[in-house]
Amino acid sequence: MESFVVEGLAGQPRLSGEVSIEGAKNAVLPIMAATLVVPGETKLANVPAIADVRAMAKLLEGIGAYTTIAEGHASIRTHDARGTVLEADTAKRLRASVLLTGASLARNGSVTFPHPGGCVLGSRPIDLFLSGFGALGCQVTEQPEATTVDAPNGIQGGEIFFTTVSVTATETFMIMASAARSPVTLKNCAMEPEVVALAEYLNACGGAVSGAGTPTITIHPASLVPHDEPFTIIPDRIEAGSFLMLGALLGKSVRITNCEPKHLDAPIAVLSGMGVPITVRPGVIEVSRPERLIPATLRTHEYPGFPTDLQAPMAVVLTQADGESSILETIFDGRLNYAQELVRMGARIDVVNPHKALIKGPTPLKARDIDGPDIRAGLAFLLAAALADGVSHIGNAHLIDRGYERIEEKMRSLGLSIERKATS
Ligand code: UD1
Repeated sequence: MESFVVEGLAGQPRLSGEVSIEGAKNAVLPIMAATLVVPGETKLANVPAIADVRAMAKLLEGIGAYTTIAEGHASIRTHDARGTVLEADTAKRLRASVLLTGASLARNGSVTFPHPGGCVLGSRPIDLFLSGFGALGCQVTEQPEATTVDAPNGIQGGEIFFTTVSVTATETFMIMASAARSPVTLKNCAMEPEVVALAEYLNACGGAVSGAGTPTITIHPASLVPHDEPFTIIPDRIEAGSFLMLGALLGKSVRITNCEPKHLDAPIAVLSGMGVPITVRPGVIEVSRPERLIPATLRTHEYPGFPTDLQAPMAVVLTQADGESSILETIFDGRLNYAQELVRMGARIDVVNPHKALIKGPTPLKARDIDGPDIRAGLAFLLAAALADGVSHIGNAHLIDRGYERIEEKMRSLGLSIERKATS
């Protein structure tokens, strides 16, 4: 086990320099899963060195693929990927493992998987997946430890209306539908940039996916073959947004490079409304801490709304706003649990119900030793520790490593004193 030791800046905006953004976790994972429906060798570029990518590679290898990942490049060979059982321990830890269900059904006509895990964000059901499998002619058998889905007559065409907007459900059925016998229309789809990136990958391999980035996506049957050139993963908007929050809190002059500012319209709008000086140029965002942070009303929403993955980091910024701010978390029901730890550091946060919190600021934060419960709350604790007066130990570094590459090196390059330390 490892933790981060952070020497806080006691609120002094001293960070400056440049930080370069990696490829997006939530784009690379569905594309890795989609390589199953593109038999042959897929080459990917701008692949982040994060634990979730290694976990997805392990799951692919478990069903017969060969993967090589080094220095931002990946090669995934799926010629012999004929397995249909997802390795349970890894699949349980990685919510994105669910993306392999549709891919395996499309490639091999069957899949057996445990209930997918991932971050502890409250209940994370899979009803949309199970009903979608049925709609495309598959048979679902649920057992206590695992679920098996079979497509004895192949994947049928048809229409799926998602009763809840879901990123991975949209992606799973985009992947699966490419092997259907007739067109599939998906309605009420997620519109995240990562959904668009997946469509671009499938289309680069000969797919016929249209409408990605809108609520209705249509997939026509196509025979997919790997693209010759490496497919480049889009920049991680959540990593970029996390550094945006760090810059808004403690930046003298922070430059975020290799990012896509257009994917961050909502966070940039909220922070600008709070008085944060932000300059945007193609691929670059510059940010610094203003004299006074104006309170904000934050409401998470599916893209292009404010991302739930930046809600906890944003809460740390709101603790420093001059007055009362509010957060309405509309996507997950367990995503305000981190607030109690910020309160112990000195924040004034009133969690009104599992979806709503009121934050009064500004409050100086005191250093503490705390364990991050998930990727994004862990990152929020690093921000709080950077802001605090004194030395904090933030545990569960492995959870932060699931989504952030070399986070301590990047924060250190901006002038923060942060070290990784082995703990017992
Ligand atoms: C993805 C992201 C995650 C992000 C989330 C919301 C990946 C790998 N992960 O997760 O980082 O926090 O989108 O932007 O891309 N739901 C159902 N039934 C289902 C599936 C989902 O009710 O069968 C609900 C969930 O409980 C949640 C909502 O749909 O309330 C949205 O979740 P979803 O978009 O599915 O999140 P993920 O795709 O798991």
